[in-house]
Order: sequence, then C-alpha cells, then structure tokens
Amino acid sequence: MNVLVVGSGGREHTLSWKIAQSSLCEKLFIAPGNAGTANLGENVSIAVDDFEAMKDLVLEHNINMIVVGPEDPLVKGIYDFFTADESLKDVTVIGPSKRGAQLEGSKEFSKEFMKKFGVPTAAYQSFTKDTLEEGYAFLETLNPPFVLKADGLAAGKGVLIIDDLTEAKKELKAMLADAKFGDASSKVVIEEFLDGIELSVFVLTDGDSYKVLPSAKDYKRIGEGDTGLNTGGMGAISPVPFADKFFLEKVEDRIIKPTINGLKEEGIVYKGFIFIGLMNVNGDPYVIEYNVRMGDPETEVVIPRIKSDLLNLFKGIGDGTYSEKDFYVDENTAVTVMLVSGGYPEAYEKGKVISGFEDCEDSILFHAGTTQEGDDIVTNGGRVLAITSYGRDMETALAKSFDNAEKINFEKKYYRRDIGYDLQTEEA
Ligand code: AMP
Ligand code: GLY
Repeated sequence: MNVLVVGSGGREHTLSWKIAQSSLCEKLFIAPGNAGTANLGENVSIAVDDFEAMKDLVLEHNINMIVVGPEDPLVKGIYDFFTADESLKDVTVIGPSKRGAQLEGSKEFSKEFMKKFGVPTAAYQSFTKDTLEEGYAFLETLNPPFVLKADGLAAGKGVLIIDDLTEAKKELKAMLADAKFGDASSKVVIEEFLDGIELSVFVLTDGDSYKVLPSAKDYKRIGEGDTGLNTGGMGAISPVPFADKFFLEKVEDRIIKPTINGLKEEGIVYKGFIFIGLMNVNGDPYVIEYNVRMGDPETEVVIPRIKSDLLNLFKGIGDGTYSEKDFYVDENTAVTVMLVSGGYPEAYEKGKVISGFEDCEDSILFHAGTTQEGDDIVTNGGRVLAITSYGRDMETALAKSFDNAEKINFEKKYYRRDIGYDLQTEEA
C-alpha cells in the first residue's frame, strides 16, 4: 500500500515510524513532515489543510490510505472531502468525518453528546454574548475554581481556570463580548471543576468495534513541578501506574462503550482515533474532553507500545475486517522527554543546529520541530525532539531518555528533568 501521513510533528514521525515497519507499506509520503520523517519516506511540501493538493498527490502516486495526525484538517472535513469524491472513493482516510470531528471542534457539541449518552463529565451550561447575564448568574451558583472554555478550537489556549468570582465574570465578558479567542469564544461552556489526577485513554475505532490503546499521562506545563505556562506537552508516560485494571474497566464500561454506541446512534461516521482526556476523581473516571486524533507527545509513548501491525489495523478499518484483527501491547513502560527551544511556549528562535544524534543509545528520537538545512538538522519549532525509551519500569526508561537528552545539543535547549515525578512507584 502507498500511504500518506498528514502532519509534521512528533506524533506524525511516530506514526510514520510504525507504519514504515509494516510489510504492507510500499511507499510512504508525509505532508509536510520534518527531518525525521524524511528518513522514512518522502516529505511533500503540502499544508495540512490543502486538500486539493493532497488529492493531486494521491492520484499521481496511487495512494491508498491517508492517516491524519492533527485536528485542524479533520475539523475542516478532510474525511468528507475524500469520501465524497468519486475518483478518490477507494482511498481509506483514518480520521473521523467532519461531524465526528465536532467532538473536538466544539466543546458544546461534545458536552451535549456526553449528556445524551450518559458519559460522566462535569456539569455545565453554555452561553453567548446575548446570555452574558445568565452566565454571571450561573457562575454565582458554582464553587470556585471556575472553569471557562471557549467553544471552538483555540490552539489549546481556550480553557481558563479561575479562583476568583469577579475575575471569572471579567474573563467571561472578555471571551463573549470582546472575542478574547476570536470566533472560538463566541460561545463559552462554563463547567464544574473536577478535582483529581488527569490521564488519557486512546481508542482506535471503525465506528463499530474498537480497540483500547495504552493509557498515557502527559506533562503540559513548561516548568518543573507542573509550574508555568501550558505547552503542547513536555513529556509523557505509558502506562499510567494508577490506571489499574479496575479503573480501566470503569473507563471502558462508563465511557468508551457509550461513546461508540452514541456515535452509531447519531449516525456519525468515525474511522479513527479517539483521545479521551480523563480526570480520575477518587477512583471514578470523568471525561474532561474528547480529541479526535492522537495526542502529542502521548503518541510517542502509546504507539511504540503497540506490538501489532498498525497499518494492518488501519487496513481493517478500511475494508471492514477491523473487528477480526488481533491487538497486542508491549508490557514494558515507555516514556518520552521533549527537548524544546529556549523561550517556548512564548517567543523562541529557530534554525539552531542540532548535534549529538550519533551519541544517543537505547532511545528512539522522534523529531517534532526539525528541518534539514544543507548537511545540518536544525530546529524548526518550539518542541524539537521527543526522546522515547522503553524500560521494565518508568525509572529505567526515564534514565535512558534523560541520559540522551544531555547528549543532544542545540543552543538554548531546555527540557523538564522531572517527567514522571508524581508517579514514582513505591519500590523505586
Ligand atoms: P481542555 O482543553 O478541555 O483539555 O482543558 C485544558 C485543561 O484544563 C485540562 O487538561 C485540565 O487540566 C483542565 N480542565 C479542563 N476542564 C476541567 C474541569 N472541569 N475541571 C478541572 N480541570 C479542568
Ligand atoms: N498532549 C495534548 C494534546 O495532544 O492535545
């Protein structure tokens, strides 16, 4: 099969790495890719939402499958674009339809979906500019902290958690009346604060049957001890030690099954990943959000733990044999530590030469923001490289990633040295 992976980050390098291992993979294209994906296939300079250019590429190279990494093209309807076109109807797109992508594209849609199908989540109400006063009144009925969410996609910045009622009202007004997040905050969901520990569970579905992928926990803040600004993710661990069999059974019964049944009942076409962001509140799982794609950097620990042929699973999604496919997971722990550009998630410089690749041992280096410049690989984003390692436990795996994090160098390199700090196992 010829396969196109859409995206350019660590997630897409990891998906490409796994797909390239499959005996079913003949030729791999990545749009637009990075310096890491260039070693696995052919990078093509097409933006992730340029569907027309992708169509030309697909027709020219007989591409059979498109695996979509980021949410943006999904929310813009890449699935519908390809499946509606007669000349492209044999192409399998791994990702939900435009309607399915609303589970991430609209907080209100996803909250309504959860309510309708009995998926446990925080109590909520949504408001617009015209119902600002009702929004203030709703805030007054809640206990702090107050959770305000822009309805639409806001590049991961649309959620505010505020302790003070006056401040919360001020921010609600800024979002609704002053378009703090542009169009994305023309509607705002206000919800109850859930007090617990976060983790994520991933599901790969053909819209009918599903397989539960390994769980993961990511580290979102830039600073050690989970301090400072939010980032795309500074590291991740899989499995999550506190997500034991009993907890995961609750997740499957209370969340995954009703979610898949809900998609079916609503007639939503969904052939792809569901990323379920969860809060463990005293042993009970609640959904914080759905994402309609894999997480980044969660992919860099979840996918390396899958022993089965991922492309064969995708193929099953395309040809209706998904439920018959075996699915095996590696018992080892996988961790990833993200090297980022100094200054990230605020302003940072690009184009710094990266050295030390050849000194790294016992880890897999997934490129996030890199590009080839002459003979050099240089930084090309805030998040630069994800260093993934396996171990029989988290500590063994982390030691390898931290060791290699020291060996890679570029100007103003930064990484968190405390990934996993809150999950130390007792024996360690
Ligand atoms: P989201 O964009 O929905 O993932 O929200 C971003 C972050 O805000 C989440 O990862 C949580 O840490 C936090 N968060 C969102 N909703 C809640 C909630 N209801 N209670 C507590 N924390 C929340
Ligand atoms: N690491 C969080 C995300 O991919 O949204």
